Amino acid sequence: MTSQPYSPGLNGVIAAEISVSLLDTDLEMIIVRGYDLIELAQNLNYTDVAYLVIYGVLPTEAQGREFCQSLAEQSEIPEELYQLFEMMPKSTVAMDALRTGISFLAGFEDPELLNDNSREANLKKGVKLLAQVPSLTVNSYRALNNMPFVRPDPSLGYMENFMYMLRGEKPDAVSLDAFDRIHTCYIEHEMPNSTFVARAIASTLADMYGAMVGSVASLKGPLHGGANEAAIEFILAIEKEGGPPRAEAFVMEKLAANATIMGFGHRVYMKKYDPRAKFLMEYIPKLASRIDNGEELMSIYNTVEQVMFREKALYPNTDFPIGLLYYELGIPVPLYTPIFLASRVAGNIAHVVEQHENNSLFRPRVIYNGARNLHPPSSPISPG
Ligand code: CMC
Repeated sequence: MTSQPYSPGLNGVIAAEISVSLLDTDLEMIIVRGYDLIELAQNLNYTDVAYLVIYGVLPTEAQGREFCQSLAEQSEIPEELYQLFEMMPKSTVAMDALRTGISFLAGFEDPELLNDNSREANLKKGVKLLAQVPSLTVNSYRALNNMPFVRPDPSLGYMENFMYMLRGEKPDAVSLDAFDRIHTCYIEHEMPNSTFVARAIASTLADMYGAMVGSVASLKGPLHGGANEAAIEFILAIEKEGGPPRAEAFVMEKLAANATIMGFGHRVYMKKYDPRAKFLMEYIPKLASRIDNGEELMSIYNTVEQVMFREKALYPNTDFPIGLLYYELGIPVPLYTPIFLASRVAGNIAHVVEQHENNSLFRPRVIYNGARNLHPPSSPISPG
């Protein structure tokens, strides 16, 4: 038997040696390929950072242009995907539709390329998936909500096209700027559950698509990516129950009932500020005037943050401000987590490439607390 110490939830366990990113909690910094993620989000655009994450270095101007062109050229999804989305029960959750869409896409891949886990083949599949994920995300949601499809427009930039499909019209500069920076903040985050799942799947030498499908399933959970939807629903519930004057009592009641307040706490930061949240919260007042209840929601946001710090010494993680920011940007709530996933595809491509290049099968052991020494009856029990 193993003599390794047991850590529930693998808390603190070192599971891999990676070069993509690190959460440096001492410096309160997210290091991505050697750079501070916040500095990247402040200065560059999503496609620059996606290139960095995927290829390991920042693009030259020519490489950046070529990358964007390749994303634009590959942005359309097969016609059968649109048909599939229309066939889905309207009750399908948007994140499940996206998961199914990615899984379905695998069948359109050249079978030889699908099973080729070389760096070159993985990059090819990964970049195509990154190109297609905005249309998958938006158009699956559109079909579920009886809205007409908006096909990708390859003449637009990557994030502009994403917003164009979301809104059915080109975005204004302020919205696009905020959307791009949020997307960059979500791009990569060391070893969250969804990345771990992607790497664990890839470690069996399963293909890039399989790893991504597992990652979507993981990210849906409210303890992970689903927290951004839960966070805005919490804020909206307070607004509905009485607005800012009710906020403090509402949080206190939830805490008294031992509820988990979504968008607070983090396995790695826990008692420190998530640098992404610190950076992005500055955008909340900038976008508040775009919605009628902007001031009210901002006031609730601030009260929840203050009470959570006072009562639990917990800071918001990035999902708390992003929940409100997406709301200010007019994005339908069920799309918050799928959009998070769309951003994280770039990070997960890098992880799958790295896992396949330096593979060791993930296969932990357990502490067994079940029964032993039982024996079955000598003949079958059920009719079979
Ligand atoms: N609300 C209330 N109490 C909390 C919260 C919260 N959001 N987060 C942690 N705690 C308390 C928890 O009750 C526990 O208290 P005690 O020691 O008295 O039992 C203590 O803090 C430790 O929490 P834990 O759940 O045992 O710690 P963990 O490392 O397993 O949890 C977490 C990390 C992210 C699952 C947890 O903080 C949480 O459930 N947060 C809400 C969900 C959320 O916002 N998730 C998004 C995470 S960031 C984005 C991402 O990576 O996807």
